[in-house]
Amino acid sequence: APEISDRNDPFILSKEDMKTLSQSIRADLIGSDHPVLSKAASYFFEEGQDGGKKVRPMMVLLLSRAMQLNAEKSEMARPDLFQAQRRLAEISEMIHTASLFHDDVIDGADTRRGAPAVHKVFGNKMAILAGDYLLARASIFLARLRNVEVVETMSTIIEHLVRGEVMQMKGSDVGDSDRVRMVQYLRKNFYKTASLMANSCKSAAILGGYNDEVVAAAYQYGKHLGIAFQLVDDVLDYDGSASAMGKPALSDLNAGLATAPVLFAAEMYPNDLNKLIDRKFKEDGDVDTAVDFVRKSDGIQRTKDLAQVHVEIAIEAIEELEQSDYRDSLIHLAHKVIDRTR
Ligand code: FPP
Ligand code: MG
Ligand code: MG
Repeated sequence: APEISDRNDPFILSKEDMKTLSQSIRADLIGSDHPVLSKAASYFFEEGQDGGKKVRPMMVLLLSRAMQLNAEKSEMARPDLFQAQRRLAEISEMIHTASLFHDDVIDGADTRRGAPAVHKVFGNKMAILAGDYLLARASIFLARLRNVEVVETMSTIIEHLVRGEVMQMKGSDVGDSDRVRMVQYLRKNFYKTASLMANSCKSAAILGGYNDEVVAAAYQYGKHLGIAFQLVDDVLDYDGSASAMGKPALSDLNAGLATAPVLFAAEMYPNDLNKLIDRKFKEDGDVDTAVDFVRKSDGIQRTKDLAQVHVEIAIEAIEELEQSDYRDSLIHLAHKVIDRTR
């Protein structure tokens, strides 16, 4: 594995490219001559309100640089390639933000990124409309990239976000086996989280006109990093502190959701946990009981191990690109996904 140094630190290497991201989204992409609408839509892009990790655009920008350095010069490459990829990074963050606006309404979550959720400030109706507006504006700028394959790929993300949310809402059926529950949970994680990363990375490669191997490597990197990212998220819901995360802890169990830690724990304590999972932790004391069993099981560790496996697959994919500091920064970003605390 490459040594970690300032030369290939993903945060240092993307700093310049990232600096103007929120500002550009606010000023160029959101627009709107309606003050309340643009204020609500810009909520997470304001100066000082900028607590997001921004891993999605960071991935797209670093990957774009890495591919550019490696791929043989294509005669067909558009002269504005990096500008287009930067726009793509912005579009990706806008889609993500729109889904969070809607998500916090659906989940009834009061805080996000250490601040009140958008619906707490502007009300539910405006939060939904601001999310819709972000999607609409993202679509306009997506079309302006003038690449139908990219439009199709990025639109698939929105379909997947909705599908993942519905799968989560419906949950598994009472009496589903461990295996069925785990397969459905992982599929849901792909739709909810990994698809956005996978298809944004893929779109960056398509924009560059790179060959199928590079497009596939980009997709696989984003997909497996995304699956790992969500697995770690699900661990942090048990392990992390609410203040570091900027959102409530144990929100999954309290919402009735069985994620990897409790699904693995149920393999160790089936008699205690299966009935709680089936009734969605709804009876008094269920959440506390489930937490106790998860803590004394290997559920957290097995979830971390599974995340590690996906990080390694992501790294293997990106190693298809020729070595460069940008490529190595993507490897480090993958490791940081595992180590993160928020
Ligand atoms: C966060 O998950 C939510 C998502 C990753 C996607 C939510 C998708 C929708 C609400 C469908 C609508 C989509 C669009 C594009 C408007 P979480 O609730 O598990 O995590 P959290 O703890 O960060 O809230
Ligand atoms: Mg939520
Ligand atoms: Mg949710």
